[in-house]
Parts: sequence; C-alpha cells; structure tokens
Amino acid sequence: MALFQILINNQKYEVDVEANKPLLWVLRDELSLTGTKYGCGIGQCGACTVHLNGTPIRSCGISISTLGDSKITTIEGLKSDNPILKAWEEINVPQCGYCQAGQIMSAVALLNNNENPNDKEIDVAMNGNICRCGTYYRMRKAIKTAVK
Ligand code: FES
Repeated sequence: MALFQILINNQKYEVDVEANKPLLWVLRDELSLTGTKYGCGIGQCGACTVHLNGTPIRSCGISISTLGDSKITTIEGLKSDNPILKAWEEINVPQCGYCQAGQIMSAVALLNNNENPNDKEIDVAMNGNICRCGTYYRMRKAIKTAVK
C-alpha cells in the first residue's frame, strides 16, 4: 500500500492503495464515485470512461500510480447544464442506462474538441463505447441536438 494524491473533479483526494490499483476501482471503492461503471475490466467496452486531462480514457486500464498530477474528470464532475447532459435527457437516450456514463464522457470529450462533428466523426469518437441496448441512433441524435 502507498499514499497517492489525485485530482478528481477539481478536488484533491489522498488514497492509501496498492500502486497497481486501477483508477476505476479507486473511484468506486475508495471515493464512492460510483457513476463510473465496470463493464469488462479489459478496456473493451467503454463503460468506465473518464477524462484524463480532457482526453477520454478507460479507467479500468490505468493504475493509480501512473496518474501523477493529472486532472481526472468523472461523470460526477460535469456541470448540470452541460449541453450533452441536457440533450441526453431531451432525447431520452438511455434504455438500461448502464453504459451511459461512459457514453456521455466520450460525447462530452468529442464536443470539447469539435464543436460541430459530422456523422463519421461522431462514429469514430463513440466507437469504443458499447451499448448492448443499441441506443446508438439516439446518442447520435442527442450529440447533434447538443451542438444546435
Ligand atoms: Fe473499462 Fe470495459 S470496464 S473498458
């Protein structure tokens, strides 16, 4: 076990954990930030997506010891007036909802880097996030709604 200081949602935390503990489990088990979900644990589904210095990453695949002073943003760190959150609600995107935090984090990162993505750019950005309910059409519609 070792002490690590991490910056999450503009708040500093100190955790005493194994150096190889994945960020996903630090968020969920140590900090009760349970909006970030466990899907596959091997970087394949996108359910655990958070932002690392603004870039979407899979939190199941990155160890706490590699974060340094990186800035982490989770679904809990988004402002309630974020256009993606509003559009997700307006279009009523989720079905079961389990993957949606990861989907939203990828969509927010996309719009932070591209104010008006086309269909191909949306597909590329969202490609690593799997939804077994198949809400892809509604997610694309919500992303387009968010940019209006
Ligand atoms: Fe991390 Fe699936 S839980 S990618």
